[in-house]
Amino acid sequence: MTEKTARATEKAVQRCIDAACGATFGLRERIYVCPRCGGTLEIETHPQALRSATGDPASLRTRWAARAASHDPIDGSGVWRYREMLPFDEPIPFVTLFEGNTPLYHGPRSARYCALDDLRLKHQGCNPTGSFKDTGMSAAITQAVVLGAKTAVCASTGNTSASLAAYAGRAGLQAAVLLPRGQISAGKLAQSLDYGALVCEIDGNFDDCMRLIQELGDDPSIYVANSINPFRIEGQKTVAFELMEQCLWQVPDHIVVPGGNMGNSSALGKGFQELLDLGLINRLPKLSVIQAEGAAPVARLFAGLDIEQAEGGDNLPAAMAPVKTPRTLATAIKIGAPVSWKKALRAVLRSGGEVIAVTEQEIADAKAMIGRDGIGCEPGSATTVAGIKKLVAARKIRADENVIAVLTGHMLKDTDYVSQYHRGTLAIDTGAGDPSSPQPIHGAFANTPERVAANKSAILSAMEKRR
Ligand code: F0G
Repeated sequence: MTEKTARATEKAVQRCIDAACGATFGLRERIYVCPRCGGTLEIETHPQALRSATGDPASLRTRWAARAASHDPIDGSGVWRYREMLPFDEPIPFVTLFEGNTPLYHGPRSARYCALDDLRLKHQGCNPTGSFKDTGMSAAITQAVVLGAKTAVCASTGNTSASLAAYAGRAGLQAAVLLPRGQISAGKLAQSLDYGALVCEIDGNFDDCMRLIQELGDDPSIYVANSINPFRIEGQKTVAFELMEQCLWQVPDHIVVPGGNMGNSSALGKGFQELLDLGLINRLPKLSVIQAEGAAPVARLFAGLDIEQAEGGDNLPAAMAPVKTPRTLATAIKIGAPVSWKKALRAVLRSGGEVIAVTEQEIADAKAMIGRDGIGCEPGSATTVAGIKKLVAARKIRADENVIAVLTGHMLKDTDYVSQYHRGTLAIDTGAGDPSSPQPIHGAFANTPERVAANKSAILSAMEKRR
C-alpha cells in the first residue's frame, strides 16, 4: 500500500516526523523509516477517531481502572488495557505476557542521596522479561502477526533481544537477534537462548548490528522490532498512562529516563502528549534523558543547542554527530548512533526537560544507592538517579518538586557488574591507546562479602561491627 492508497477508514496513519516531508502511510505498510525521505516514522491517530473511540476523558479513566481489576487477558495486560489509544482494529490478535503493571516505589535513601524531599521510582524492570522492552514488544509482535510475518528480528544490547525472543515465542514466530559479540551480559544472552531465538553474535558493536537490521528489513517475511519501529513506541507509550493512574492523575514535575537508542524517551513523550491532547492531563511533566558519558551523542548535541532556535522541538538540528566507539559499563545503553534521537529530542524540548551525561562512577554509586532502598536495577537504569542528583545540584530540579525516575531493567540482568562493584574489582576499559586503562571504579557504597567462622558468636560479632 502506498501513501495514496492508505485506507481512509483506518483510525491512524504512519507519518514521517520530518516537518519538511510529513508523508503518511497506511498502518499495514511494512516500513520502518519514511520511504520518501528516510526520516523517522511515528503513528499519528486521527484526533476525531481517537475522540470517538475514547468518548469523554473522565469515562476513559473509569473504564481503564475497571479493566485493571478484570481477569480477561486483554484487560490484565498493562498495554492492551489502554487499547483505545493503540493503532489496532478489533478483534486484536494481541500477544501478551501480562506486561506493564509495574510498581511505583518511594525511594527515601535515593531521594536523600539526590538532595530531594521525595523521589519515586517506576520499576519497568518488573516486566515479564525484566525490562521495559516488553510493553513495546507486545505491540510490535502483535503487528508482526497482523502482517503475517514469519520472523521477527532486532539488533540489541541484550534486553530488546530477550523480550523479542519471548514474545515471538508466545506468538509462534521465529526470532532472530543480532548481538554485538562479547558485549552482552550473560543473563540477557541466556534469556534469548532459552526463549529459543536464533542468536547471531556479530563482530562489531550495537550500531553495526543496527545497520545490518536495516538491510534485513527489506525481506517481506521479516519484521523488524527495534524501537525504530513505530508500533514498538505505541506499546511503550502506555507506561505514561499507567504512571498517571498510579499518580492519581496528578502530573509529576519531572520524569527522568535513561537514554540509549532513545525509543523509551520518545515513547514517554508521546504518551504524555496524547494525554494532554485528550485533556486527561493539563500540562506535560518535564522529560529529561540521561546518557552515560562515554555514549552520550544526544547529551553532547543538547549541550550545544540554541534552545530558543529549536522552537520547542519544531526546529531540530538536521544531524547528530555519532560517538564512533561508545564506552560504558552500562552495556544496555552503549550506543553511539541512537536511531530515535529526533523524536526524543523533540519530546524533551516540548516539555522543557534536559539531556545530560553522567560518569561511570556516578552510575555505579547511584545503582548501589537504589539497591539500599531495596530496589534492584541494572546499571543503565541507575543513570536516572545519578542524573537527578546532578540536575538538583545544577538547580534544574528543586528539592520540593515531584520527581519520578524510570528504572528500565532488573538488577538480575547484570549480576557480574554488581558483584564486581561490591568486591572492588569493577573497572572500565578506556581504549587500547590509554595507559591508564582499565580505570577502576571505586565502590563508594561497596558491600563486600565477609568470610565468617561457622559459629554463632562469630556471626553475631560480624553483625555488631556493621550496626
Ligand atoms: N535501559 C535499559 C535497561 C535498556 O536495555 C535500554 C536499551 C535503555 C535503558 C535505553 O532505552 O534505547 O529506548 O533509549 N536497550 C536496547 C536493547 C538498546 O537492545 O536492549 P532506549
